[in-house]
Amino acid sequence: MAKDPDPNPATELLATGASLDELHLAAESCTACELYREATQVVFGSGSTRAHLMLVGEQPGDVEDREGEPFVGPAGTVLDESLAGAGIPLDDVYLTNVVKHFRWEPRGKRRLHKTPATRHVRACLPWLEAELSIVDPLVIVCLGAIASQALLGRSFRVMRQRGQAIDWGGRTVVATIHPSAVLRASDPEERDRLRAALIEDLSTAARLAAG
Ligand code: URA
Repeated sequence: MAKDPDPNPATELLATGASLDELHLAAESCTACELYREATQVVFGSGSTRAHLMLVGEQPGDVEDREGEPFVGPAGTVLDESLAGAGIPLDDVYLTNVVKHFRWEPRGKRRLHKTPATRHVRACLPWLEAELSIVDPLVIVCLGAIASQALLGRSFRVMRQRGQAIDWGGRTVVATIHPSAVLRASDPEERDRLRAALIEDLSTAARLAAG
């Protein structure tokens, strides 16, 4: 019996030698899961295609959904500050997300972030694999549980295993906390502790990328 065509065209496009811009364009009409219906637009990765570090978040937030760029909202501000704290120039990184459409639910007039389900991660993963194949980073930093578990498996625990250099098919993965965890921290001490952990793990990743 003929196999159904893969609803995500990323792998086939990559095999034809497509560039990141061409992949981005194709992702704009991706219907591999239903999230495209309620999102404003796809939020593809951005940054240097020669970056040694690729930072992978969960999914775009409300601001990213409207602006079409990853990490340009409040979590992006924390990430920018933490990269600066780790001495990593912004043009040395490629930023992307595991899921490229914003999943949300209405709460009054607001659109509240809703964690993507496994089916959304699976449907979207070929885009990340294509980005990895083109950018070819030395080190991948997974920000938070969704990105970490997408790459390292469901039993991975960020708070227990963050900051470790993990061999992942010839590349190195370092998992760390998501910058939005810093924003959600209930007291200033906890916020400082989480921010310091994020900076420490980013510094580890930068050292590993430098060889
Ligand atoms: N959170 C993410 O994981 N990614 C973004 O791009 C923004 C917020």
